Amino acid sequence: MNVREEIVDLLGQIRMQLINSQEIGLDAPFLSKNSLHYLKKGPQLDVAPSDENFSCNSLKELEDFISDCDRCKLRKERKNIVFGEGPPDAGLVFVGEAPGMEEDLTGKPFVGLAGKLLTDIIKAMGLTRDEVYICNIVKCRPPRNRDPEPDEIDMCLPFLKAQISLIKPEVICALGRISVQSLVNRDMKITRDRGEWHEFMGIPLMPTYHPAYLLRYPQAKRQVWEDMQKIMKELGLKDPRGLSD
Ligand code: URA
Repeated sequence: MNVREEIVDLLGQIRMQLINSQEIGLDAPFLSKNSLHYLKKGPQLDVAPSDENFSCNSLKELEDFISDCDRCKLRKERKNIVFGEGPPDAGLVFVGEAPGMEEDLTGKPFVGLAGKLLTDIIKAMGLTRDEVYICNIVKCRPPRNRDPEPDEIDMCLPFLKAQISLIKPEVICALGRISVQSLVNRDMKITRDRGEWHEFMGIPLMPTYHPAYLLRYPQAKRQVWEDMQKIMKELGLKDPRGLSD
């Protein structure tokens, strides 16, 4: 047996012990919910934390699965995991960067000032917030709103990928530099690459400026509107203001 096979074998034995102890009414308080989940699913150890192998059949199952996530250092100061919200079959998914203070407190994405602006952008597209899915690259607030770090992004990205593969949107809109660099590649420049179609998991992806950037530089709203018009066209939506050609 090689090392990998030994680990898988050992996990199989632990799993059997667990199942047996549960059958006679014993709990396993020393294991986190996530560890239990893995073990109950059986020995399948492609489980490198940065390339997780897990399967969830619904967004609810995925949300439960990560409800006590402790994979990265963001766990220390977060108050709530901000999983994301919207219809499970949304045609359009907005992906921001990371929760801020208000999102951390409420557990909901984009509820602060930048969120209000995002809501206005969505309305201008002729949609409502509850018709689109809104989430972030990382699900926990980085302390003092610093940028999420590469190791934190690597840990969290598998969950976003799982979300996207469950939702299967027609279009993804990446909000800001961190989002597009995480979803497309690290060489992306938001000023250069916004407004052009890219791809994530085979889905058309449009990068645009983050609403927080628009709060500081409102003159960039015109470019964001141009990007939104491209998305509307891709989704077959009519410009409610009759401004697009
Ligand atoms: N900024 C983000 O990128 N995401 C949020 O949820 C809020 C602010």
